[in-house]
Order: sequence, then C-alpha cells, then structure tokens
Amino acid sequence: MREAALGSALGRATPRIDGRQKVTGEALYPADVVFPDCAYACLVTSAIARGRIEEIALDGAEAVPGFLRALTWKNTKGQVRPLASAAEGGLAATSIRPLDSPQIWHAGQIVALVVAESEEAAREAAGKLRIAYAEEPPSAGFDSPGTTKEPAGGEEEVGEAEAAFAAAPVKIDARYETPTQHHNPLELFTTTCAWNDGALIIHEPSQFVQGLKQGVARQLDLPPDRVRVLSPFVGGAFGSKASITPRTALVALAARQLGRPVKLVPTRMQGFTLATHRAETRHRLRLAADREGRLQALIHEGQEVSSRPDAYSVAGTDTTARLYACPNVATRVEVLHADRDTPGFMRSPAEVPYVFALESAMDELAEALNLDPVELRRRNDTDREPIGGKPYSSRALMRCFDAAAEAFGWSARDPRPGAMREGDWLIGWGCAAACYPTVLCPAAARVTLRADGGACVETSAEDIGTGAYTALALAAAEALDLPVEMIEVKLGDSSLPAAPVAGGSNLTASVCNAVWQAAGRLRARLLQAAVRSNAGPFAGSDPTTIRLTEGWLRGDGGEQSLKDLAARSGGPLEGYAETLPEGLPPEAMEKLRRGELSMIGGPSAPKRIQYAFGAEFVEVRVHARTREIRTPRVVGAFAAGRIVNPLTAKSQLMGGLIWGIGSALHEATEIDRRSARYTNQDLSEYLIPVNADIEALEVILLPEEDRQVNPLGIKGLGELGNVGTAAAVANAVHHATGRRVRDLPIRMEKLL
Ligand code: MOS
Repeated sequence: MREAALGSALGRATPRIDGRQKVTGEALYPADVVFPDCAYACLVTSAIARGRIEEIALDGAEAVPGFLRALTWKNTKGQVRPLASAAEGGLAATSIRPLDSPQIWHAGQIVALVVAESEEAAREAAGKLRIAYAEEPPSAGFDSPGTTKEPAGGEEEVGEAEAAFAAAPVKIDARYETPTQHHNPLELFTTTCAWNDGALIIHEPSQFVQGLKQGVARQLDLPPDRVRVLSPFVGGAFGSKASITPRTALVALAARQLGRPVKLVPTRMQGFTLATHRAETRHRLRLAADREGRLQALIHEGQEVSSRPDAYSVAGTDTTARLYACPNVATRVEVLHADRDTPGFMRSPAEVPYVFALESAMDELAEALNLDPVELRRRNDTDREPIGGKPYSSRALMRCFDAAAEAFGWSARDPRPGAMREGDWLIGWGCAAACYPTVLCPAAARVTLRADGGACVETSAEDIGTGAYTALALAAAEALDLPVEMIEVKLGDSSLPAAPVAGGSNLTASVCNAVWQAAGRLRARLLQAAVRSNAGPFAGSDPTTIRLTEGWLRGDGGEQSLKDLAARSGGPLEGYAETLPEGLPPEAMEKLRRGELSMIGGPSAPKRIQYAFGAEFVEVRVHARTREIRTPRVVGAFAAGRIVNPLTAKSQLMGGLIWGIGSALHEATEIDRRSARYTNQDLSEYLIPVNADIEALEVILLPEEDRQVNPLGIKGLGELGNVGTAAAVANAVHHATGRRVRDLPIRMEKLL
C-alpha cells in the first residue's frame, strides 16, 4: 500500500458526483424501470389487528376489466419459505408470513396481492375484495390488557448499583417515554420483479442488496446465483429499507405465475405497516452522584413494544452504560408483545430513545447538584468505559462540548429556569451529548482502468441518499491521484463485489477502505504495466522512479497518459480488494456474500471501544401565553475521525439535527388503543418539521485522527446527528419554563 500522505482527495468538500443525474431526473430509481409487458400489483391489507380471515370473496375483483390474479393465503400458503427475522439476527423485517395462513397478527398486514393490466385496474380490483374476519380484541401496547413481557437483554453490570444508589447524597429517579415513529422516505416501498429464463431480477430500493438477493433466494428456494437485485438509487431509507419485508417474495411469485414483470408501488399509508417503525419505549433512569457531581450509580431500565411473534428490541443500554465514568452500573431491557407489526431499524435505533433518557436525566442531575450541565459531563468524562474497562479508541466528547458551547455562547446562560426572557418569549438553553458506535463490516471492491484513462469503481454498496457515490469516488481518487471527475462509480447491484448494508453508519468507513485498497492495487498494476510494456516511455524502467499524478505517469523516461497506457495494455487493468475489519474471522467475507452480516465495533471492538461523539446545544423560545415552542438556534459539534467529504458530512449531521428537533417537538404515530391501528398514516397527519420549523443550524466538524478504527481512520456519522437532540430540546424547554417534559414529543399542551 502507498505510503504517501493522505489528503489529495479525501477530506475535500466535493459536490455529489450524481447530483446532476438526480436533479435532471436522469437517475433511475427502482420503480422507474419500464417493461412493455408489465403488470401492476396492489396490496390489500388487514382492517383488524388480531383474529383470522374467515372468507375472501374474489368475484367483485375478478369482474374488473384487466384483472389478472389475486394472491391470498389460500393459493399462496407454503410458497414462501421462512426467513430468520431481524429480532433473531436475520434478514427479514418480520417473522410474519402474511399469505401463509388466515391468521392476522397486526392491522395493515398484507391479506392479498391483486395484479391487473394497469395500476388503476389493480386498485379497483383490490377495493372489491370482500374479506370477512373473525376479530378478537387486540392489545395496542403499553398499558393495554393482554400483553406479555420478556427480558430482552441489554444487561450490563458493574459494582453494586442499587446499594450505591441508596447511599449516594444526590440522586435522580425519573421515567421517560418516547413514541412510535414511522419512516416516511420520499420514495415509497416499491418492488418490481422480472423473470428471465428462471432467473429473477428484483428492482427494489434497498440498503442491503446482497441480503435482499440471498434472502429472497431462500424464501423462494432458488439458487442465489439466479437472483439479482438492482437498486442504483434509493430515495431515502434510514433503516426502513434494510430488512426484507414480506412484499418482495409475493411480487416475485406473482411475476412468475403470470410470466411477466410485476410492479408494486404501495401507498404511503400502506408503508406504515409494510416497512418497520421505531417502537415506543419507556425508561426508568436512576442516577446518583457525590456532592462534586461524580456519578456513583447509574441504573437504566428500558421497555420496548414489539409484535406478538418477534422479540425485536434495540436495547440501547450497551451505550448508556458506557458513556460516563461510573463505578456502579446496572441496566436491563424488557420487551412487551402486543398485536402490532414488528418494529425495526430507524436512524440511530438504540441511541435515539436511550440517550434521550440518559441525557435528560443528566440535565436533571446537574440541576439537583446546582452544577452547569457541561461541567457535569466534564466531571464524568472518561477515556475508559466503565463496564469492561476497555479504552476508547479516541474520545472527543468534551472537545465537542467545549467547541459547541463556545460557538453557542453558553457562558452567557443564566442557569435559573425562566430567567431569560425577551418580550413574550421565554428563552431556554439546553445541551446534550451525542454518540454513535463506530462499526465496521467486511467489504469488497474492484477498480478498473477505463479506456479514457479514468477509473471505474465497482461494489454492491448502496447510496441511500447519503453521498456514498461521491465518498467512494474520493477514496479511489485519493489512491490513484486522479481528479474526482475521472472516477465513475457503480453501486447498488448485487452482481458487483459484495459490500455490506448501508446501515449502522458503517458503509463509508467499511467500503472506502476497500475501494482505497483496490485502487492502490490498480495503481501498482499501472506502474507494472508501464514498465513491462514493449513500447512506451517507461519500458524496462524501475517502477519506483515513476510518479502517477492527474492521470499521467511521469519519470525520467518522459510521460505517458493513462489513456495511452490503457490502449497499449493487452487486457483490462484492475485492482481488487477485500477488507476484513480487525477482530472478524476470515469467513466473515464469505458470509457477507451469503447475505450474512458480520458487524464489529462500538462497545464490542476487540481490546477497545469505539464511538463517534458530538455535543448539541439548542435555544428554544416558548411563548409565555400560547406555549408555542420555537427552536431559533441549534449548534452541534462533532468528531468522527477522518471526514471523507465535509460537504455531505455536514448535510448528514444537519439532517440529523432536524430529525432530532422533529423527535423532540413533532413526530409521533398515534395509536387507537381499542383497535391497535395507527390513526395518522399520512404526511398530512404525521407531523415532521417543515422549513418554517427550522431556523439557524450550525454544524462544526472537529478534526480527529484515529488510526485504530480502520486504516483510513473513518468513523461513521450518518446516525450521529439525531442522537441527543431531543434531550437538548427538552432540557432547553425546562430551562425556559421550569417544566420538565419526560415524554416525547413536547407539544404545547404539555406546557399549558
Ligand atoms: Mo440505519 S437505522 O442502521 O439504516
């Protein structure tokens, strides 16, 4: 590998290389694929949350002109094989196989897939299915009768937490609650399947094309090499397109039965129960400190809601147990089974709810100690995690607090609640820590010299809108010293070298390292080819005397363009690399090709613990009479190792802050307690922040060098930004009003 100092491309603020394609509509998303003989599918979903289908009458649907077929449990039972669910560490979003039996597990469960000649006919026919249910009273979630509970891990223990809590002079014992949240990416959860000679092509937006390919192959009992997934562009995902939902195999089955491609574009409402959601959580958090504010005990007990059959939980206590120095820690998590669809990944799945509880409690503790909240964090800062005593690979938490506090002007804060006011507006300033585990996966990439002297990067990695195309181009540009305009990147195709899920904030770190290595190998090949060539200026020279820069080989013998070298070389010149993160067994790469993900890092990195950090400061203004809440100013400072592309990194973190404000003030899925149904399943009723809700946002990127995490020193930051934000807002609301709101979202009625 090359020894030269990094920095010619990595770290340079670079506009997205696919930006032009995206704004001109040239970028084709999976549902944009056109087949002349395509048939169209429409889902029919359950009106009840618990019970059985007694009867499905198809005659109305069959009478609709253009009707082709309806898949129901009666004709589809046994045709989709089970696939391990995310709750068991598998690929499927849920263990529920909706057309395998008449049983109904949750409202909105797929009960039929209707296919017709046109989308309109499919919708009309779907609306004419007559379904009779035997309904049982469902359990909606927390506090509903009929739920069951079980331990869900999340157990961390050191010292004697209960005894230390009882003995400490200053303590907080508080309960926090976060609501259900639903994914609403702009792009819907579409699937288009086409068969060709017994081979299946799936066009579906996906965060993990290798997993989708392998999973559907298993579900349909196909050899994996007969399945290909194409997902070159994804219109938003954040966890909702990471696991395999039941729709894909059903669309594939319909396409096989009809002998023609089938396209499904579910409605936004259907998306609420088709893809996964963030489960509602409850927390009891006990913090105890000595009079100087040093933590003596931390006890975090979490509860999460899941479906009847799946014990899905995020158990964020592995992070909250380790964020601060504390000699006595005890945590545990419980999952509650209700008649709901199985939850799943949503941006910072574990940290968002669990760090909200911890960082709210830290603010309460600071108040009880009469100590500045930043100072409380400083007194409990640590470079070793308290559970196993492992060192952090790097820890910039207090650097982030100090930089953000400085930019925010925190020193001017009057700590007394309600003391800061401007006219009718009560002003509150709050802060909280952000952190996210740095995890890595195996990855493979190929970089090839093109005929025009540029390079082509190929890996199955997914760009879910984060800027992966550009990040990976920069990694290749760095190793080859080529301008980024000369790098072409091909992604989102399962037939390319295997890359991991675009999830867990691992992809940039994992795949940039693979691309950088592959490009480094190509570079070595280019020099060899130049000296081995019979003609050309470098024939027979010593390759170490040749420099490669800006697409030219230069040395004592003269100069040669890569275009010329490509023309003279007998065959393709390429570099290929597979990277295996430290601590993973060699078979992890083969497992990835089989769709099994091996992730390592965060609290479980070998010999150390690795996280990216941040600190977020929020100003709220609460109207003294109406209790309207505004957030005029947010400042976040973050450190995440080497920043590959500051432009897209900032935009990711900004997006995270916005989502965090949404979590704090707007977002919640409302559940009808009697019917266990979601009642605000659309973008007019499901509140998210709009432009008018977001005012000044400042993102500060702090330099950080951490060569332990991976050779390029990259820490993921895709999920870092919305961790802690909700606590910072809640803490600011408390500062403004003296009112501590412990259940999100904080809406004005909670302040009246
Ligand atoms: Mo992220 S929730 O791991 O897509």
